[in-house]
Parts: sequence; structure tokens; C-alpha cells
Amino acid sequence: MAELSELESKLGEVMGLAQAAQLATKKVEKLVQDEQLKETLRQMGEEAAQTEQRLEALTSELQGKKTALAEQARETKREAQDMMNTYLGGDDVDGLDGFEFLLMAEAGELGHVEIVEEMNKKVRMEGVDELVSFVKPIQEKHCRFTREGALKLAAEEV
Ligand SMILES: [Fe+2]
Repeated sequence: MAELSELESKLGEVMGLAQAAQLATKKVEKLVQDEQLKETLRQMGEEAAQTEQRLEALTSELQGKKTALAEQARETKREAQDMMNTYLGGDDVDGLDGFEFLLMAEAGELGHVEIVEEMNKKVRMEGVDELVSFVKPIQEKHCRFTREGALKLAAEEV
């Protein structure tokens, strides 16, 4: 399989996290009753899907590296899912547990996008600046949403 550059490999990780985020938001949606939070989670899931599509479009132009990149994404998705299953695997988990997991996951997603942004200052790969402009505000918003959601549930739980 073709060797990926540091930046390409990082793009694969961002893609894998976006795939995992779609599953995580679905899982947490089942744990909460609050309709407004459910709606927020659905929106986050949709935006994760859009992020994945953007990455697909960008990386499909990387001749000969598509397979290696998809493999990197799969590996990262698997790791994220393992974490989710560890954190939310029990049958006594509630909505707040779900949001606590998302706090970590969304911070991880945002951090990876910022790493891509930083690497691309040197690499200047075509299309990456546009990708970052699209994805970074979404991830910043997701971090804010999950924090607000977690605190709302925490206030209700005591
Ligand atoms: Fe996200």
C-alpha cells in the first residue's frame, strides 16, 4: 500500500473521527429524552456526515493513495468506537454519560482539524485550507453544543 505523508495520514484520522461521530451521536441520542438535545445530536450527526463527504471529495483526487487513506480512516474509526464501547458499554449509562463521552470525542475532532491546519501551513496541499475553513467552525460549534448539553443534563441530575 502507498505510504501516506504526515498530513495525508492526519486527514485519514479526521475522516475516521467523522465516521465515528455519526455513530456516537446516534448512540447518545438514544440515551437522552430531551427533545432539544436530540435535535442538536441529529444536527451534529448530519454535519459529521458532511465532513466525511468533504474529506472523500478531497482525498479521492490523491492518485494511488485512496486505499491507504481509507485504511487509516477505518483504523481511527475502530479506535474511537472501542473508546465509545468502553465508556458507554454498560447498561446503566445515561444521557449525561453520553455527553461526557462526546465532550472528549468532539475535543479530539477539533484538535485533529487544528493539527491538519498547522501542518498545512508548511505543506500547502491543495484543497486543505478550504476543508479547514469548512470543518473547523463546525467542530468548534460541536464542542460548545456538547459542553452546554452536558451542563444542562448535570443541572437536571442533581
Ligand atoms: Fe463533531
